[in-house]
Order: sequence, then C-alpha cells, then structure tokens
Amino acid sequence: MPAIVLVGAQWGDEGKGKVTDMLAEGVDLVVRYQGGSNAGHTVVVDNEEYKLHLIPSGILYEDKICIIGDDVVIDPATLIKEIENLKARGVSLSNLRISGNAHLVMPYHKTLDQYEEGLKGKHKLGTTGRGIGPAYVDKMARTGLRVSDLFDREEFEGRLGHSLKYKNLILREIFKDKGFEADAICDEYFAYGQAIKQYVGDTSLIIHNALREEKIILFEGAQGTLLDVTHGTYPYVTSSHPVAGGACVGAGIGPTKIDRVLGITKAYTTRVGEGPFPTELQDEIGAHIQKKGGEFGTTTGRPRRCGWLDALLLRYSVRINGMSALAMTKLDVLDELDTIKICVGYKVGKETITEFTTDFRKLRECAPVYEEMPGWKEDTSGVKDYRDLPQGAKEYIKNIERIIKAPISIISVGPRRAQTVILRKFV
Ligand code: IMP
Repeated sequence: MPAIVLVGAQWGDEGKGKVTDMLAEGVDLVVRYQGGSNAGHTVVVDNEEYKLHLIPSGILYEDKICIIGDDVVIDPATLIKEIENLKARGVSLSNLRISGNAHLVMPYHKTLDQYEEGLKGKHKLGTTGRGIGPAYVDKMARTGLRVSDLFDREEFEGRLGHSLKYKNLILREIFKDKGFEADAICDEYFAYGQAIKQYVGDTSLIIHNALREEKIILFEGAQGTLLDVTHGTYPYVTSSHPVAGGACVGAGIGPTKIDRVLGITKAYTTRVGEGPFPTELQDEIGAHIQKKGGEFGTTTGRPRRCGWLDALLLRYSVRINGMSALAMTKLDVLDELDTIKICVGYKVGKETITEFTTDFRKLRECAPVYEEMPGWKEDTSGVKDYRDLPQGAKEYIKNIERIIKAPISIISVGPRRAQTVILRKFV
C-alpha cells in the first residue's frame, strides 16, 4: 500500500506535473498538499496541453480521486476558472475533492502581496503576486478564512469584517489604496462557495480510508525544496512547506503512513524570481538552455534563470526529504552541448565547502566548483530504453547518482508521456 510523496528537489518547475501525470496511471488518489495558484503544471496528453494551478494533474484520468488538501491556499476564482476550463475540454471533475480546512486567498491578499513587494525595493522576493504569502500570514495569525467558512454566511461576514478593519487600515493609511468593501467580497465569495460546494469534504478521512483499503496514493508537492519556508534559501522562498514532511501536515496523515519519497530534478537548474543561484549561467549556454527548455513560468510567464546542475543542492534535497529515488526531467535539453558541468562544491573566500548551505550570504558570494565532462551530442528525445541512451548521458546520470548518493529511477526526455525512460520500477 504505497503512499508516495512527490517533491520538487530544486527551486520548483522541475516537471512534477509530467511525472505526477505519468505515475498517476498506477495510483488511485493524487493529493496536492500545499501552496496555491503560485504553482503551475503543464501536462501534454495526446498532443493536448493542459495548464493547471490548483487541481492535481491526475484529474486528466477519469478514475483517480484528486484532492486539494488542508494546507493548500485556494483562490476560488482561479479554481473555478480551472474547473470550467477542464469541463469545457471534456474532462470530468466528479473525482475532485477539496478540504474544508484549506484557507482562502482573499482579494486583499493579492493586493497586499503586490504592495509589500513594491515596498521591499531591491530586497524584493519576486513573488508570483498571487497573494500566497499574505494568505499564509493570516492563517498563522489566526485571522484567515477557510473553505468551510464559505457555507456559514454569518460567521464569514463577522470574521471578514474583523479582518478587513485591519487590512483596510493598512491599505488606506500606508498604501493610499481605496481598500475593500465587506459586502462585495461576501457576495462574491458566497457565489464561489456554492460553485464548489459539491467538491468540499473531509479529505484527510478520504485519504485515511483509502490507505486502509490499500489504495496507492500520490502526494504532490508544489514548488520545490529550496523554496520551503524553513529549509529553503530563506528569505527567497515561498510561504509553505513543499518538502516531503509537509505532506503529513498538508494532507492530514501521520509520518508512519509514508512509504516512499520521489524527488524531481531537472537535468540542470532553474530559478524564477530573486535570490541566490550559484550555478546560474548568464551566457549563451544559459540562453540555449532557456530557449530549448522553454524556461518561462507557467503562472507568470517570467523567464526562468538557468544554470548547471547543482549536485550539492540536490544532495541536500535528498537529505531533507529522505528521498528514496529521483526522476530527472529535460535531459534532452542538454543534447547539443559540447561540455557539461556538475557543481560539486562552493568556494567561499579561501574555503571550499562541499555541503549545501541555506545561508544566503554564502550562496550569494560563493563561486561554484565544477566537474566537467564532454557532452553526448546526440538526440535523446526519442529514447525509450536506458540501453539506448548515449554513453555520455549514462555517465552524466551515474556521476550525479554517485555525488548525491541516491538513485535516479526515471528520466524524461520530452514533454509527452511516452518520452520517458524507466531505469528502475518505482511504484
Ligand atoms: P510566492 O510563492 O508567490 O510568494 O513567491 C515566492 C518565491 O517563490 C518567488 O521567488 C517565486 O518566483 C517562487 N515561486 C512560487 N511558486 C513557484 C513555482 O511554482 N515555481 C517556481 N517558483 C515559484
């Protein structure tokens, strides 16, 4: 009865959508456990491209229960748009379940996100502007509103009124904004509540029952380990817990229930938004990776910063998540390169460190130390069997496994389901 956590091993955008979608075939439930519509998954099925922000990509299979879990923050307008878009394309939503505990992203969260970023000037984080940070702040401050509150108008109005007094004071006095009217928000959010009511329930109980029935469950994290609010490159992080441990709190299951953790990494590294990135390439190789890899954000369209694979970072990620194995995506993006580099250390002043650090001062100042190898210079995008990979590509994978001390079980060489090489059975 495996319960598998699928987690981004880098700074997000590792291609989790494709791997979830691929693994979903063999699982019964897919559970999203944190984050919000800051995430974006692109999945290609039968030449059709789907872009999802909140709904797990398992929804594209008719028989999978797809859960939006307790620690997700939901912007109901985005969710409803996503539901309607999927319905219009013939996808059934009858297996969607939403936790009543999930917090709501409110209009003032998005406005505050944008103003707060503006105020930070050169210290800005480069957030997605989707109100994620302010929504989690309210959750922790115990002033947030949850999905279950959408069905109790009196309670909703009372708590919203209380919250708005404070938010409007900040918006009007500090940012000279017109602020928000409680009545308008109430009407808007109550309509949202009615639109999603049929999907809302006790998702932790659904998961618990599925585990008892020996069903296979995939817990899907959004963003990535280095964006975790505790274990990432703070303060340049998101406000939730993408790490595998986050699945327990975020889905309402105990740690003893998790059997395996699959990390997803790209064959190189990318990062969106601000913050240190030791292996970043600001040259023609970085530009080539960005172009060939289509490295533009699903949610914001921003170009992603690109660089060599950072094996220090990856080994750290293996440790923090207790990864059983990894899936490596976008190997084909490196096909044309003459030389390929793997970062194996950081030079900080006179010292060379070989373990990752989340100290942003060191990360900002360090110079990466690389192992170099010749590129394989062959097209891998049609490879389906490990034996058919070019020798250089096999060596690249073996070198990474040696450094990170974890097996790479799945390799992806293109966006389609079929463009996948399975090295070892994972599920
Ligand atoms: P927030 O999550 O919108 O608050 O943004 C905080 C940081 O996380 C910014 O650097 C974002 O670019 C980054 N971020 C948030 N969501 C994603 C994602 O899904 N992929 C990659 N980066 C993300």
